[in-house]
Amino acid sequence: MKTDRELKDLWIKFFEKHNFKRIPGYSIIPENDPTVLFTTAGMHPLVPYLLGETHPAGNRIFDVQRCIRTNDIDEVGDNSHLTCFEMLGNWTLGACDKKQMINYSYEFLTSKEYLGIPKERIATSVFAGNEIAPRDEEAYKAWKECGIEEVYFLPTENNWWALGGGVGPCGPDSEMFYITDKPKCCEKCSPSCDCGRYLEIWNDVFMQYNVENAGEKAVALAKPNIDTGMGLERTVSVLNGQKSVYDSGCLRRVIEFIATKANVKYDENEKATRSYRIITDHLRSATFVLGDERGVVPSNVGQGYILRRFIRRSVNCARNIGFDTKYFADIADMYVDEYGKDYADINSNREKVKDELIKEVGKFSKAIDEGYKEFEKVIRGIEKHKEFASQKGEKVENIISGKASFRLYDTFGFPIELTCELAKEKGYQVDTKGFEDMFKEHQEKSRQASAGMFKGGLADGSKQSARLHTATHIMLAGLQKMFGKQVEQKGSNITPERLRFDFNLDHKMTSEELKELETFVNDAIARELSVTCEVMSLDKARESGAHGTFSSKYGDEVKVYTVGDVSKEICGGPHAENTKELHHFKILKEESSSSGIRRIKAIID
Ligand code: ALA
Repeated sequence: MKTDRELKDLWIKFFEKHNFKRIPGYSIIPENDPTVLFTTAGMHPLVPYLLGETHPAGNRIFDVQRCIRTNDIDEVGDNSHLTCFEMLGNWTLGACDKKQMINYSYEFLTSKEYLGIPKERIATSVFAGNEIAPRDEEAYKAWKECGIEEVYFLPTENNWWALGGGVGPCGPDSEMFYITDKPKCCEKCSPSCDCGRYLEIWNDVFMQYNVENAGEKAVALAKPNIDTGMGLERTVSVLNGQKSVYDSGCLRRVIEFIATKANVKYDENEKATRSYRIITDHLRSATFVLGDERGVVPSNVGQGYILRRFIRRSVNCARNIGFDTKYFADIADMYVDEYGKDYADINSNREKVKDELIKEVGKFSKAIDEGYKEFEKVIRGIEKHKEFASQKGEKVENIISGKASFRLYDTFGFPIELTCELAKEKGYQVDTKGFEDMFKEHQEKSRQASAGMFKGGLADGSKQSARLHTATHIMLAGLQKMFGKQVEQKGSNITPERLRFDFNLDHKMTSEELKELETFVNDAIARELSVTCEVMSLDKARESGAHGTFSSKYGDEVKVYTVGDVSKEICGGPHAENTKELHHFKILKEESSSSGIRRIKAIID
């Protein structure tokens, strides 16, 4: 087994043989889950099913899931850390037969048809017990019966698995390790030490519990599950005896590509190696985020900010090794070629991925040249200050102030992490707390600014216009329900007397369709739905499923208006407070506005 592709194929073959059904990998951007920015494990999108919902594909399922974890982003560039990886996952829902799962795991690891690892090379760990769950004798026994010599009982910190936020399904696990040629480091050497003798390759989680709210106790699930996950890149490198996760497959090919264009060699020095790897990892993450069906573009909040950081950090690393950023698009192409095979959305978004990448690099490069100069100026200023102070016998610390780092961020686009990185190279620290304070203050200002934004077409702030505006939202929801989500607002003009609304549709509406639309709006009026407004980041608004058309007009923080269960739209307002204020809705006219665009005029009375 040499490549990630081969391991994926073996995984698929194995679980199909055992009557598990393959489900497609989910989006890398979680749906309806505000606790994390990205999907961090294969089980993540499956939480509702792990909590008892029935899965449409049945209760024996498996997949290959794209994941992003950013908690170790600063470690990326060493041998083992990646922000982006693929997880091979497998689930048994509603049942927890440990012995059977352990037998499957043993077969996949040792059978010549699959990984063919000699059983003497495998060690496992099982749960030692805590106040919630007992010592896992069952798992221990199952491994012993397979003939595994080294089975270790390890405590909660090693063998209890829960999602990052500590909320959600969780439970004791059993981890599998490859035993390398390194001798035991001491008498007590076990998979819990990081001496390098034991390298983790797979994890079977016996998901028998759930934590509903942070800080609460785990309660037993009525229907327990088994969740197993294997990190693809890591397992391939371990089984190939490679030193790093960057040594094989697509990541290796990207490093080799960079090497043909860069001025500094991959192994020239530690900084060069790290820079190559950061570009390789971060551009893969960027490709996954931009190419995703729910993809976002670079911004200053949420996922968009992390994406920006991936790209900007790559630009910085490219500079370290004399690698022209114009080749970023070629790297994106390599990733789309590879991962488009598994994730159709990445394939169809190829051009978007490259365009956004180039755009962001352009934005950053322009700012950054100025920013580097500004950074040097800041350092020179402090050095001068130090000189001056030392003449007076005073001491000045090597600290870049919150104000200076915020200016670098705000005016020159330097992410705070970049300032910290450059500062570190010079032996400086950054007042990150001061930066955060200024950042929050700035956010509040832009929130206030965008909350005052008006949607185009509203001629005045009168109550009657606000009501017609609410009718417009309901009507759009009705049109989308009748003809599909591709129907969008193409123009809106509201006076206190009437609304006028343009939208895309490929035909003249029939009188039945107009009736249906009127009934839809009048039904929402009769149900006396309340209209609510929330301010949130644009990314969060999109994530929450709010509809919005003129996205380039929006600031980082937007208002989202919700009309009962009928409509949710990014919009500046104003609106009625309750649909009952609209009394009755009537369409006066439906006509062509321009090619493919229809226009409705309507009133409320
Ligand atoms: N959810 C488990 C993990 O991420 C399998 O290790």
